[in-house]
Parts: sequence; structure tokens; C-alpha cells
Amino acid sequence: MNAANWSTAVSGLRIAKHVVVFSGAGMSAESGIPTFRDADGFWQRFPPEKFATWSGLWKTALTDPHSVADFVLNVVDPIARAEANPGHRAVAALERRAKTTVVTQNVDGLHQTAGSTDVLEVHGSLLEVIDSVTAHVVQRIDRSQWTQIAEALRKYAGKQSSLVSLLAELRKHYPLDWLGRHRPNLVLFGDAMAEPAWTKACEVVDQCDLFISVGTSGEVYPAAMLPDQAAEAGAMVITVDPQASGDCPLRGNAGIVLPKLIDDAFGEHR
Ligand code: APR
Repeated sequence: MNAANWSTAVSGLRIAKHVVVFSGAGMSAESGIPTFRDADGFWQRFPPEKFATWSGLWKTALTDPHSVADFVLNVVDPIARAEANPGHRAVAALERRAKTTVVTQNVDGLHQTAGSTDVLEVHGSLLEVIDSVTAHVVQRIDRSQWTQIAEALRKYAGKQSSLVSLLAELRKHYPLDWLGRHRPNLVLFGDAMAEPAWTKACEVVDQCDLFISVGTSGEVYPAAMLPDQAAEAGAMVITVDPQASGDCPLRGNAGIVLPKLIDDAFGEHR
């Protein structure tokens, strides 16, 4: 770790009044949830043109329902089994030291599980069901329900059950409706960002004095514009990622770097 960047980050954190933690898939990698663009990432295994839009998913479901069941299984199973990692807990602990807002692209709910109370989920949440017409959240689905749904998907993806029995099983745990109005509160490519989370995220980024970007490749807009927006608003920008670059890069895994950073800044034991 570059010592100069480290001490800049530690002193920046010590004096920060309002911190924004901007997280991506790398934040949850140590919780066993694959990222999207790393070597073993989702989009390497599931081509985005077939699986990253609702229209693509419907089309694929009509021609190859088993592959959609396999994709959904690979999305929900790791999230259903996941626990918050030391990185999530360090971010939650930061709230005791400075006003902290989490702006996350992740849909796994692990920041809240770790205890963060001000979390803006700009790509939605897998733990919420929305009515796709009104965009209102109609129900919450917890991890244990997703575990049961994953079991049903595993059987179907493995061709051990029929589509009818899969849908019957899904309806036990998920408010499926035949019009397809109820669906996971997920922002896929081509969708508008989740509101009011996105509007609030843009506001807090203009107000913060420290912006910590954690585990995001910065390839997906509009979220990827936030670090530059924070810098233009005068905030210090720290980047935590094994491939980190930028003004103050801290190269390493979130679950190791963040606890140490908070420890060095505040002598806080998590
Ligand atoms: N700690 C910190 N960073 C990590 C770790 C780790 N343990 N492991 C991997 N990373 C980094 C990678 O180096 C990479 O920069 O996390 C980043 C993951 O990048 P992506 O897979 O592109 O994920 P993300 O940036 O969150 O994707 C943005 O794209 O597919 C859509 O909607 C999806 O929200 C997602 C958006």
C-alpha cells in the first residue's frame, strides 16, 4: 500500500464531516457474491444481451427457460446465503464517527445487514418486490425465502422439475402475477435509476466532503459519474479496489482495507 496515499486517506477521514461511501460489486465479493466484470464475473458466464435487460430475459425465457432459471439461480443463491463482511461492518461503524451516507449499486442489502442506516440503493434491491406499473414496493422478500426459491430454481435448472411445478413453487414464496406486473425491484440496462434513491444520491454527493469509492469498475452510467461529480463539488475522493486508480488509490480488498483505514483513523475496533 502506498504510504503517502494511506496517510492522506487517514487524515482525510479524521476531519471529514460528511462521508459518502459509493459501493459496487467488489464490496460484496468477500461475501461470496461474484462481481460482474472480473474473470469469473456474471457477464462472463451470462451474456448481457440475453440476461441484462427485462426484454432480453423475457425473450430468453420463451426460447430457453432453463438458462433463465440457471441465471436467476446464480444471482439469487449467493445473495440468499451471503453475510456482511468486515468491509460492510467497517462502513457501518463509520456512522459513529461521521455523518455517513452509503450510495450503493448493489442489490444484496448487505450494508443494511451490517448496520448502516443511511443507504441509497440506486439500482434497487433484490429484497423488494415492486409493481412495475406504479413502481411501488409491494412486498419484501427476505434471504430465507430466496433460499427456498433458489432450491426450486436449482431443481428446474437441473431438469428435475417442470415449468408448471417451478411456477407453483415460486408462487408459494413470491407474489407472481400472470400479468408479470410484480417483479424484483432491480434496475437493469435501459431502466431508469431507482427513485427517490438516485435523486438523493446526486444531492448528497454535492454536499459531502469525503467520497470513498469501493469495488466498482466505473463502467456503468449514470452511477459512474458520481466520483467526478464529488471531486468537482470539492470533496476528497479515495478509491478502494485491487485495481484502484485516481487521486487517492488504495489498492486492496474492501474487507481488509476499510477496517484498517477506520482503525488507523479512529483507533476503532469493530
Ligand atoms: N474489494 C474491493 N474491490 C474488489 C474486490 C474486493 N474484494 N474484488 C473485486 N473488486 C473490484 C474489481 O477490481 C472491479 O473494479 O470490484 C469491481 C467490480 O466491478 P464490476 O464487476 O464492473 O461491478 P460494478 O462496478 O458494481 O458494476 C456496476 O453494472 O452490471 C451492472 O447493475 C450492475 O450494479 C452493477 C453495475
